Amino acid sequence: MQPLTGFRDFLPAACAERNYIFAKWRAVARRYGFVEYDGPLLEELDLYKKKSGDEIVRQLYEFVDKGERAVALRPEMTPTLARIIVANHRNFRKPLKWFSIPQVFRYERPQRGRLREHFQLNCDIVGESSIEADAELIALAIDVVRAFGFRANDFVVRISDREFWTELLKVEGVSPERWEEVLQTIDKSEREPRPKTRERLGGLAGPVFEILEKGGESAKLNAIMGNLRARGLSDFATVDVGIVRGLAYYTGVVFEVFDRAGKFRAIAGGGRYDQLIAQLSNDSVSLPALGFATGDVVLGEMIHDNVVALRELESSVGSDRNIDIYAVIAKEERRTSAICLIQQLRDSGYRVDYPLAPAKVPRQFQAAEQLGARTAILFGDEWPSVAVKSLASGGQQLVPHEELITHLAANR
Ligand code: HAM
Repeated sequence: MQPLTGFRDFLPAACAERNYIFAKWRAVARRYGFVEYDGPLLEELDLYKKKSGDEIVRQLYEFVDKGERAVALRPEMTPTLARIIVANHRNFRKPLKWFSIPQVFRYERPQRGRLREHFQLNCDIVGESSIEADAELIALAIDVVRAFGFRANDFVVRISDREFWTELLKVEGVSPERWEEVLQTIDKSEREPRPKTRERLGGLAGPVFEILEKGGESAKLNAIMGNLRARGLSDFATVDVGIVRGLAYYTGVVFEVFDRAGKFRAIAGGGRYDQLIAQLSNDSVSLPALGFATGDVVLGEMIHDNVVALRELESSVGSDRNIDIYAVIAKEERRTSAICLIQQLRDSGYRVDYPLAPAKVPRQFQAAEQLGARTAILFGDEWPSVAVKSLASGGQQLVPHEELITHLAANR
């Protein structure tokens, strides 16, 4: 009874880890003034066919619903965001800075770092064409990874500009219908044997390899690097024209985040997509936009591979799981009094657990320890007082039950 290939069950430990990742993502995005939104899991198939590009369209989970509509599970969030913006942009002051944590679905060959579902943090800025926005977004991408304890020697953002390549394609007279295919080939060139890329590029191979080897420079990229330097973040970034991005809608600055050791797949990726909103709205709305997404799968693998990051995760997840108080019911005739007090404790904000069925006292203490309780409260012969026991020091004190809440607050 396993989940489908490439899908995950989230047992409590995995769910706690996921919550840890989401909490950090939310905290960093909010620190940059981004606000959260969400959209539907299912969209019209056409939304992706229009502009995401062939690769992602091949990976769609698509079907015809009972109303004969061709629909697809979202493989990414950007088309949904663009659709929402077209319908609602008038109600918002620009630029919009929005984030979302969708689960997305791609029918890929499951392998390390790659599943058929994953969660992504998406951060996008809509309605701003200044280069400052590109730098702000890249700084956010850096801080999102830094939040997990990673440093400049752990990861790097490789920044490029699609215009390097589109300019070349113009100069070489390549017709725009072929651009996407050529850009995809350049995007894949790093992961593919040279002769294969050469064969695919044909006459373009010479100039493309020359640019890849020489590297590129532009006023735009210099400005972004200068901006990151002013923030003290330039050690986390480098200009690299080899970054093109696989998705079709990018138009300008693009970037991807990688671990320095090259052990993992891309941690994050994004860029400018100034035409997407106009294309989806048949030119009725035109707004520049840029954004990135980072996934939970690669990040999780990186955390488990890094001592510092893992220690931080474990201490946070551990303290999150622990309860505060375990109520030990030593005498069954005290059960009603116990649940009355337990209710009051929970109302006061304590995390409290107790045996749902009669159990021997040593077993109850065992349960208290396993649940990480700091305090045990014994309901037994001493009633109407209870014995309050610190599970760390072993110290014990008799407290009248009506003074329990005040006593606990004073000893917190
Ligand atoms: P993407 O590069 O396709 O971009 O995905 C972003 C990140 O999601 C990747 O860097 C990777 O960490 C993770 N990811 C992608 N596919 C998988 C998979 N099959 N399994 C696990 N993790 C995966 C986008 O999706 C763009 N929509 C990002 C964007 C937002 N651009 C502008 N705004």
